[in-house]
Amino acid sequence: MVDYKSLGLVNTKEMFAKAVHGGYAIPAFNFNNMEQLQAIIKAAADTKSPVILQVSKGARNYANAILLRYMAQGAVEYAKSLGWEHPQIVLHLDHGDSFELCKDCVDNGFSSVMIDGSHLPYEENVALTKKVCDYAHKYGVTVEGELGVLAGVEDEVSSDHHTYTDPEEVVDFVTRTGVDSLAISIGTSHGAYKFTPEQCTRDPKTGRLVPPPLAFDVLEGVEAKLPGFPIVLHGSSSVPQEYVDIINENGGKLPNAIGIPEEELRKAAKMDVCKINIDSDSRLAMTAAIRKVFEEKPAEFDPRKYLGPARDEMEKLYKHKIENVLGSNGKAE
Ligand code: G3H
Ligand code: 13P
Ligand code: ZN
Repeated sequence: MVDYKSLGLVNTKEMFAKAVHGGYAIPAFNFNNMEQLQAIIKAAADTKSPVILQVSKGARNYANAILLRYMAQGAVEYAKSLGWEHPQIVLHLDHGDSFELCKDCVDNGFSSVMIDGSHLPYEENVALTKKVCDYAHKYGVTVEGELGVLAGVEDEVSSDHHTYTDPEEVVDFVTRTGVDSLAISIGTSHGAYKFTPEQCTRDPKTGRLVPPPLAFDVLEGVEAKLPGFPIVLHGSSSVPQEYVDIINENGGKLPNAIGIPEEELRKAAKMDVCKINIDSDSRLAMTAAIRKVFEEKPAEFDPRKYLGPARDEMEKLYKHKIENVLGSNGKAE
């Protein structure tokens, strides 16, 4: 058993309570490799922002579960070496799909886990989520559950088929499971194609796609039922068009990629949304920077010469999200 506290990590309990009452959200950035982790920690340390290092099942398979744990431990020490005296860093399992996976993470130093039973029938979601909570809470590990289904073009489900969270279910779900936070569905989705062109309008000046608004009425409905309870938004990349353009101009092919406008995320962060998940934007930043180097310097073959610029671009992106979108800067002095 590896206790997350011995790694210098924290759980989400206090962090979320402060965020909900302070009108900001904590960034949950996914990482799969060293450059992403370095950029996240540098951005969080420079802005003194609490941060959630988010690891998916795929990331664990890619980077190796043991190595990831030591990387997270190293991240705490790296943060301190950057002058961040009391780093507030959470190591969180993203989209856990079984009790066994969540248990393995609890047993190996994660301070927070998500059990995603959102695709299950309601009673099965309740039972699985409760089982994870009962185990994780014995070790002080916080748990995120999910109600409502996020559609996404990446899993070949049209974004028309979102099942928004039903505010009538949330009190029952939270009470019976004991979850510490709840991911809800209000129109966000994973990946770089969050809406089809048919669902959007076009800005007459720029010709850019303009996405439909999020279902803030659903968020308000949830808040009315669970005042002050920590709410999570997945699928919250904004798919910056400057990265999409760089990628497309340098040999990439991402036609009509589109995300969630940052003003909408800012608005959600001021409400009870206290955790905002961002993965795709970091992938876009990295890909744009690498494609640019490959195009401009075809003779370059030292990975540091393209992963370095990719890391710089991700750091810039993370800082921007922290300072201008989530408002979490200075909240972990
Ligand atoms: O929600 C999904 C995250 O973006 C992680 O994606 O499963 O490809 O690592 P992944
Ligand atoms: P994006 O694909 O919008 O970055 O969402 C990431 C996410 O929700 C991870 O759980
Ligand atoms: Zn997600």
